[in-house]
Amino acid sequence: MATEQGFPPELLTQSAQKRLDYFKAPDKTIMHGNPKLAYNQVLRAIREPAGASIILVMGPSPSGVGKTTLLRLVEKKIIEESLLQMELDPGWIPIVCVEAVAPGKDTFRWKDFYKRTLIAIDEPLIKEKISYSEDGIRRDSEGKLIVKSRATEDSLRLAMEQALSHRKPYTLAVDEFQDIGKMASQKVLEAHMDCIKSAVNTTKIPWTGFGTYQLVDFLELSPQLSRRTRIIHLPRYCLEQNEDIKEFKRVLKHLLCRMPLPETPPLVEKYWEYCYERSIGCIGTLKDWLIQALDLALEEGATTLSFSHLEQTAKLTSECIQMAKDAIEGEEKLTNTKDSQRQLRDLLNSKKQKVQEDQTNSGGNGKPQKDGGESQSQRRRRVGQRNPKRDPLASESL
Ligand SMILES: Nc1ncnc2c1ncn2[C@@H]1O[C@H](COP(=O)(O)OP(=O)(O)OP(=O)(O)O)[C@@H](O)[C@H]1O
Ligand SMILES: [Mg+2]
Repeated sequence: MATEQGFPPELLTQSAQKRLDYFKAPDKTIMHGNPKLAYNQVLRAIREPAGASIILVMGPSPSGVGKTTLLRLVEKKIIEESLLQMELDPGWIPIVCVEAVAPGKDTFRWKDFYKRTLIAIDEPLIKEKISYSEDGIRRDSEGKLIVKSRATEDSLRLAMEQALSHRKPYTLAVDEFQDIGKMASQKVLEAHMDCIKSAVNTTKIPWTGFGTYQLVDFLELSPQLSRRTRIIHLPRYCLEQNEDIKEFKRVLKHLLCRMPLPETPPLVEKYWEYCYERSIGCIGTLKDWLIQALDLALEEGATTLSFSHLEQTAKLTSECIQMAKDAIEGEEKLTNTKDSQRQLRDLLNSKKQKVQEDQTNSGGNGKPQKDGGESQSQRRRRVGQRNPKRDPLASESL
């Protein structure tokens, strides 16, 4: 099936490691369907945040839907299209990328985050250096940034804000954004959200957080933040969507064709459902699994990848069940279902009805009356009208 092979034929004569490395290469990304849609949405949102100070890109985890891959592609694209502008303005950086590193057993450490961001902004290639006056932050004789351990969290935050305001990137992109909320009580999480809000307010540089569906909880806790947030969903391929299934099969076929093996594995038509189930439709999980399966096939010196290679390297069903449950729960939160639309309409209508009732009760002057809108005449009972009192329940009426 030479026409289907998606790799340089000379690879077949090379070592198993070289062949595996070719398949593993992260730059061979497939940008169709969901990832492509999310990629375009993220680029548009970064170029034009339209008032949003935080852009959150969410997808399932730890099942690897390709969030980090998407971040890398977005970074690459933004830098590519900014090259000319960067030449004209050598002190400018179009995008700053950093990872929010999960603390072990502790809550998120901002000091560490500020330091990482500061270093990420301090591009060695940029000649125009920022000079910091904060204690513990200085430059050595070659201009390299040195951050001493005595630098406090406050001084690092100030320096980071100064650097961001100076370099003016389109965005500060933060991978694993949900780790900011790890091990945090509601109060601590609120304090974390305040840190982000204050940094965004001071610098006017929007943040783009890439992370899991846990990010929805952040927004529920911080309505103020939620108002200024734009959400972009990077979903897995869903079994109930015909388009998604077509796409999943295409991705699977593409990946199998890229395996440097003498025969392209003939597994799509017969085993795509098995592949779907054990990856729950996440391209990252599928790719990681296929890497292991290919490794096994190469080790055995097989001419192609068989179902047995897949089976031996598949995730356990119990793992997949948990992953699927988490993913479905997250998707439900981010999907406009008929129920949620009805709930919204009912909520807004109930407010409208209340205002109309108030207007009717107040004789149409539009102002609700004191005591919940009940007028004097309503309060005065007519002759023969019972005093309001509770009627006994059937069981009480002995
Ligand atoms: N669009 C894609 N095309 C091909 N390979 C992809 C694509 N997206 C992700 N991958 C591959 O899947 C694997 C996992 O991707 P990635 O690390 O981006 O997932 P993630 O969503 O960030 O995962 P996690 O939740 O663990 O952080 C990587 O090997 C990556 O190269
Ligand atoms: Mg990731």
